[in-house]
Amino acid sequence: MTAIVVLGSTHMDLVTRVARAPKPGETVTGRDFRTVPGGKGANQAIAAARAGGEVSMIGAVGSDGFGTLLRQTLAASGVDTDLLHTAAGPSGIAGVVVDAEGANSIVVIPGANGTVTSLGPGEEALIAGADSLLLQLELPLSAVLDGASAARRHGVRTILTPAPAQPLPPGLLAVTDLLVPNEHEAAALTGIADPHRAAEALLRQVPEVVITLGAAGSLHASRDSPPFAVPAPPVTAVDTTGAGDTFTGALAVALGEEKPIERALHWAAAAAALCVQRPGASTSMPYRPEIDNAS
Ligand code: RIB
Repeated sequence: MTAIVVLGSTHMDLVTRVARAPKPGETVTGRDFRTVPGGKGANQAIAAARAGGEVSMIGAVGSDGFGTLLRQTLAASGVDTDLLHTAAGPSGIAGVVVDAEGANSIVVIPGANGTVTSLGPGEEALIAGADSLLLQLELPLSAVLDGASAARRHGVRTILTPAPAQPLPPGLLAVTDLLVPNEHEAAALTGIADPHRAAEALLRQVPEVVITLGAAGSLHASRDSPPFAVPAPPVTAVDTTGAGDTFTGALAVALGEEKPIERALHWAAAAAALCVQRPGASTSMPYRPEIDNAS
């Protein structure tokens, strides 16, 4: 089994479904409200575990009821939570608005995630034994840099999702092996809207990039081979929340199993396509047999 460590966020997603998202100053009546376990870190951990990885999660939940539910949700998908800390105070939450096309907008309140500022005891050793370390930007950047640097010291592949998009500390891209932005994050990092040109620019800072393009699939670029695009299976999306996290979690498993990169990207795209056809983040992530059947 591919050993994967996720250093990242946990949120309780407070999900409102609407016909269309309100404009500033406008009130709309929604259709439905649910609480769904999420957070980019937890989502990637759950996606990777369901895709067949042996996954451990480093991060923090709060000491409230949401924290208990978040930990239980990870454990129920087979994620090891021994190094998922419980911090006194509230868990992270995300206000998620999903419109009739399945598109989302999200506001995150970090809560307990903000207490994770560096690696703690035993965490570098856990990372050292992994095939890949998955990172996002919903923990303090000091922790992300600490984790990526530890992985690099031990020759562990680092896969960074640069979301939410923000300026990165010097040195973080230098210890990133594979960067997986969506097209908006790639544009924010480079100032270049065209994904092909943005990928070229990013290759000056990291050796390999996958830009996810939603329903249009993904674009792979590497310093070692010509760029190529991989389509996404055509599906009707009901909720795209967590689709990128599903893609990245599945991709990490596929790379750990040494699937050729193009095959790995098709497999990850199949996982993400299954995710968008169901509501919620962690609730919508597929298990391995479904991904194998769909790819
Ligand atoms: O990527 C989707 C996730 O982003 C949601 O689950 C939400 O918690 C935010 O972190």
